[in-house]
Amino acid sequence: MRHESIEKSVNLMMVLIVVAISIGGLVELIPLMLSSDATEPDENIVPYSALRLAGRDVYISEGCYGCHSQQIRPFRSETERYGPFSTAGEFVYDRPFQFGSKRTGPDLSRVGGRYSDDWQRLHLIDPRALVPESNMPGYPWLAERELDPELITSKLRTLQFLGDPYSDEQIAAAAGDVEGKTEMDALIAYLQSLGTNRRSRR
Ligand code: HEC
Repeated sequence: MRHESIEKSVNLMMVLIVVAISIGGLVELIPLMLSSDATEPDENIVPYSALRLAGRDVYISEGCYGCHSQQIRPFRSETERYGPFSTAGEFVYDRPFQFGSKRTGPDLSRVGGRYSDDWQRLHLIDPRALVPESNMPGYPWLAERELDPELITSKLRTLQFLGDPYSDEQIAAAAGDVEGKTEMDALIAYLQSLGTNRRSRR
């Protein structure tokens, strides 16, 4: 009887659906918000330097995540190929995270140090010069675009406001770090940092 009256009243049905979905959502969200594994950085994980942060923004604006994931699952097939699997504490300074869901190209979360800066530069300008069968697009214009020091400074300040542990000295030095650097330099600095400062869990 009661069930029938719920089904016949659209408004009551809507309210109850919202309540049911909210409970489901909260049960998933709240434990994660409270777990230090997910909210505190792993050992050695520090906020991005000004140049790397700028590079991360280039990564996002160029849509690299459309073809590259940054998330290694805890399966042997993944860890053999890419390295130690990802943990939540690696990503606490990633706003937003770059897990991605498509791997047209390989996962990049451990790519730091795998190639030289020169390799990365040439690969980004013309991927097929190094990997003839590659279908990755070239990004030659990144080498011509200079970074905006003021913008980076205000980004660091915003992240500090949001709770990332940047010191005032770091923020004061940010403009100098990116002065005269191109988007290409920043992107390479970002790529070279990926996975390098986490402790091995293999
Ligand atoms: C259309 C899909 C596509 C897009 C978009 C793309 N890539 Fe790739 N990427 C690939 C493929 C495929 C490979 C493997 C072949 C190769 O090395 O070129 C690759 C390889 C790489 C590698 C070498 C990884 C390794 O472990 O060998 C890096 C680094 C890389 N891409 C960075 C980037 C960055 C940075 C961007 C954005 C500026 C980007 N890619 C955008 C498809 C893509």
